[in-house]
Amino acid sequence: MAEPRPTGGGASRVPIGVLISGRGSNLGALLAAAARPGYPAAVAVVISNVPDAAGLAKARQAGVKTLVVDQRAHRSRGAHEQALVEALRGHAVEWVCLAGYQRVLRGPLLRVFAGRILNVHPALLPSFPGTHAQRQALEYGVRVTGCTVHLVDDGVDTGPIILQEPVPVEPGDTEETLSRRVLAVEHRLYPRAVALAAAGRLRVEGRKVTILPGPD
Ligand code: GRF
Repeated sequence: MAEPRPTGGGASRVPIGVLISGRGSNLGALLAAAARPGYPAAVAVVISNVPDAAGLAKARQAGVKTLVVDQRAHRSRGAHEQALVEALRGHAVEWVCLAGYQRVLRGPLLRVFAGRILNVHPALLPSFPGTHAQRQALEYGVRVTGCTVHLVDDGVDTGPIILQEPVPVEPGDTEETLSRRVLAVEHRLYPRAVALAAAGRLRVEGRKVTILPGPD
């Protein structure tokens, strides 16, 4: 039986699961957003595939349940994803948020949560998908980069785009300075996109996502 929905501000909130592999600053932004009254989602569980991911401590501090589902304990990618599915279902999760989760999804997770998995990427997709997006942007010499929140499909950073915001590249930027400015925007954009998803305000037709009107 599904666990009851976490509640807040009197209204029922949509349980989300956050998958991380590292420091979890976007997780921190989601936890902070979820602590605000009226936010339509609650973080029901945080799962890391990396046992010592720093982000796990952030979740524990916020009183959120954490789990480690280590791929090394599973014989295949499919078996690992199935274990993730079971953990997410065990917490009645409706939306899955990837937040620095360093594995491409291909198996059961994508099937079970089809159209209900979000990711944040530190570039304006479809430019600079994959790893080191900020380094790619600097090497290419773009004047503007940014970040994207998108739905996850079976490609690498190819799913339908929900929100994007530009970040100018400054003269003398390094990967570190640019990443810091992009990250600050991610921390605003991701909670907004999750709120839209949780509030049922995303209509997806093919690649196109329409944001339905509602309180902002
Ligand atoms: C972020 O830049 C995010 O866009 C990318 O991975 C990084 C994760 O950072 N997918 P954090 O763990 O949320 O701090």
